[in-house]
Amino acid sequence: MEQQHQIDRIRQLARQRDALILAHNYQPEVIQQLADITGDSLALSLEAARTSKPVIVFCGVHFMAESAAVLAPQKLVLLPNAQAGCPMADMITPEDVARLRAEHPTAAVVAYVNTSAATKAASDICCTSANAVTVVNSLSEKEVILIPDRNLGRYIASRVDKICHIWDGCCPVHDELPAQALAAVKRQYPQAPVLAHPECTPSVLAQADAILSTGGMLQHVRTAAEQQFIIATERGIAVQLQKDNPAKEFIFPDYPFICEDMKRTSLDDVERCLQLLQPRIRVAEPVCSAARRALERMLAIPR
Ligand code: 13P
Ligand code: SF4
Repeated sequence: MEQQHQIDRIRQLARQRDALILAHNYQPEVIQQLADITGDSLALSLEAARTSKPVIVFCGVHFMAESAAVLAPQKLVLLPNAQAGCPMADMITPEDVARLRAEHPTAAVVAYVNTSAATKAASDICCTSANAVTVVNSLSEKEVILIPDRNLGRYIASRVDKICHIWDGCCPVHDELPAQALAAVKRQYPQAPVLAHPECTPSVLAQADAILSTGGMLQHVRTAAEQQFIIATERGIAVQLQKDNPAKEFIFPDYPFICEDMKRTSLDDVERCLQLLQPRIRVAEPVCSAARRALERMLAIPR
């Protein structure tokens, strides 16, 4: 009851501020229910750029709010919990990129969107988990540097005809899923297809029927004939999967599969940030323009 009152207060405050509330597919259930729009990291940044609303409340992690601020520099972008980061995005710096470029001077640098704006600014082009292979294939360079995720990097390398230099970062949440835990749930539900996020290890991906971004999983399940699915990604995705497909069943391996950073956002954080219009995410020049160039180069590639 008290929670519903708070949700109503937040919605009213959002109307007064003319704010749009966005939530990533891994956010806590109540935050996904509150949001105007839910989606994967790229889809949300595009919504931020497209909306006519001047204030964006980005319920996600820091790099996502940064991408929104880069693509919509005239808008006020708020990250309700300033502690919500992404350990993988912190595993590489612009200085690391400069060193990689010196080692491989003819290679193009492809940065996964899970990077800081400063790292994007030091890169040639961005990619997401949804378009990574298409982005790499679009490049004229024969050699590429793939940062920061070694699992996404290996997945791309197995599908393109390029020399790939792969940075040794990872998402701890996906990387630590034991392949045996997935094998065990597959034995229990042999008919259920496995949908896995490309941040999982090669031994997990080898067991998958489809390798998809969170947005890709939602799209796939909507049109699939099967009634049960094994899901290898963060558990928050179950909220939208179940909402869109009430008759279908989603089974997770016996593994926590929780991103603590994604779960930091609370209703109190969202209410406070709309009252104070803080914490604001700003990306200063020249990083902002350079990061936008890498993101827009990706967005210009036909899907
Ligand atoms: P998506 O872009 O697939 O939503 O993934 C973001 C993310 O952080 C995965 O761990
Ligand atoms: Fe970062 Fe992994 Fe959390 Fe995604 S799930 S935000 S990659 S730590």
